Amino acid sequence: MSSIISIRNLSKTYQSGFQALKSVDLEIRKGEILALLGPNGAGKTTLISIVCGIVNPSQGTVTADGHDIVRDYRAARAKIGLVPQELSTDAFETVWATVKFSRGLFGKAPDPAYLEKVLRDLSLWDKKDSKIMTLSGGMKRRVLIAKALSHEPTILFLDEPTAGVDVELRRDMWEMVRKLREKGVTIILTTHYIEEAEEMADRIGVIDKGELVLVEDKQVLMRKLGKKQLTLALQEPLHRIPDELSPLALELGDEGRTLVYTFDSQTDQTGIAALLRQLGELGIDFKDLHSSESSLEEIFVGLVHAGGREARA
Ligand SMILES: Nc1ncnc2c1ncn2[C@@H]1O[C@H](COP(=O)(O)OP(=O)(O)O)[C@@H](O)[C@H]1O
Ligand SMILES: [Mg+2]
Repeated sequence: MSSIISIRNLSKTYQSGFQALKSVDLEIRKGEILALLGPNGAGKTTLISIVCGIVNPSQGTVTADGHDIVRDYRAARAKIGLVPQELSTDAFETVWATVKFSRGLFGKAPDPAYLEKVLRDLSLWDKKDSKIMTLSGGMKRRVLIAKALSHEPTILFLDEPTAGVDVELRRDMWEMVRKLREKGVTIILTTHYIEEAEEMADRIGVIDKGELVLVEDKQVLMRKLGKKQLTLALQEPLHRIPDELSPLALELGDEGRTLVYTFDSQTDQTGIAALLRQLGELGIDFKDLHSSESSLEEIFVGLVHAGGREARA
């Protein structure tokens, strides 16, 4: 795996004294789609803004395609396209002038054929001579995407791309993201919609209160969805899992006071009956038991509420 963005020990404290990021370490892999999932105020936009050179870090370093985003800002920024969360456009310009200007900003030679393709892919071509202020909200968002792609970035950040967006644009956007990924563009999107992360991402990072609490392959996370856990509250704490039980997927919790059995809820043979029988034979008594199922939603909520200290999986 080679990483295209390296974020090391990154912290941000705003002038107000508010700490929006706390020592974030993250390697973003070349060509992946990474979804950063987190509630409002988690620090997602702050993280993106630092990587894109809009906000200064208080501590730590970021490199984009080998370029330090502070010392080597222009080279780093030229690799990056950003579709910002907020709609902010040059109201009086035409669509064409805006994307042409954006491309020039990054020192790229004019390429009308490329820009035409970008506008066509975003169903914006017939609006190329329209002034931006005359466009609908959805069309303005398409213009922001066209601007972000105008200089052929190899890294694309989409900050809450589908918040408040109609179904059609959401579908087009996902389609566009997949196509870009096929071309080798690395894509980082933020969202607080779990379905969006599930649908789009190769990996999912969960960010909460300025901390990156988890980064994992989506498939690995999804596999946990099919898992259930049986938790037994033991009569007497165990110091270790007896050898007879070691072949089973058992873990001790709460300083040995609980025994947690993870099983696949999709199969007929859960192994629970055998487990309970064996516990009886070993004289391990329990006073209570309950089972739970985890979904990505639960994993997420659990992480966020526990402040990242425990992931229920
Ligand atoms: N310029 C700023 N000055 C002070 N606090 C800020 C500033 N920008 C953002 N914050 C605060 O930092 C936290 C993280 O914000 P943000 O990165 O926008 O989160 P997210 O994008 O995950 O919703 C929030 O509590 C927000 O109020
Ligand atoms: Mg945000």
